[in-house]
Amino acid sequence: MPKQRTFSIIKPDATARSITGKINSKFEEQGLRVVAQKRLRMSRLQAREFYIIHKDRPFYEELVEYMVSGPVVVQVLEGENAVAKNREIMGATDPAKADAGTIRREFGENIERNSVHGSDSPENAEAEIRFFFSGTEIVG
Ligand code: CMP
Repeated sequence: MPKQRTFSIIKPDATARSITGKINSKFEEQGLRVVAQKRLRMSRLQAREFYIIHKDRPFYEELVEYMVSGPVVVQVLEGENAVAKNREIMGATDPAKADAGTIRREFGENIERNSVHGSDSPENAEAEIRFFFSGTEIVG
């Protein structure tokens, strides 16, 4: 199977606890390479646009405020079947429902403060990568 890329965010709850290295170890140990990465503070506008698909959900405003509350690490991960693989490594959205050994089960605090975001399809991965990275910033 050819290599695939997916987009990942290490969220403010995780950067606040300095566990970005532990999270990256999970990716690397399970076959995903970090081929681009930067730490930044999202603007409200960026957070709103990034999560626009959730704009009608009751948690949208709170989610935006949470995502701008501290630094995040945006990443491109590469590997075989990277989109599905990353979702497996992250675990279910709600840490309480995530399988043992997954990032969200080990590190997530609750359904909102769940430590990581990952693209849910190859099409969204492409769009999300483009949202944060230019081609020259990605080095495979
Ligand atoms: P993520 O994978 O980044 O996609 C949307 C985010 O919204 C999700 O992770 C959570 O951080 C948040 N989220 C999803 N469902 C809820 C919920 N029911 N209540 C609060 N936040 C949620």
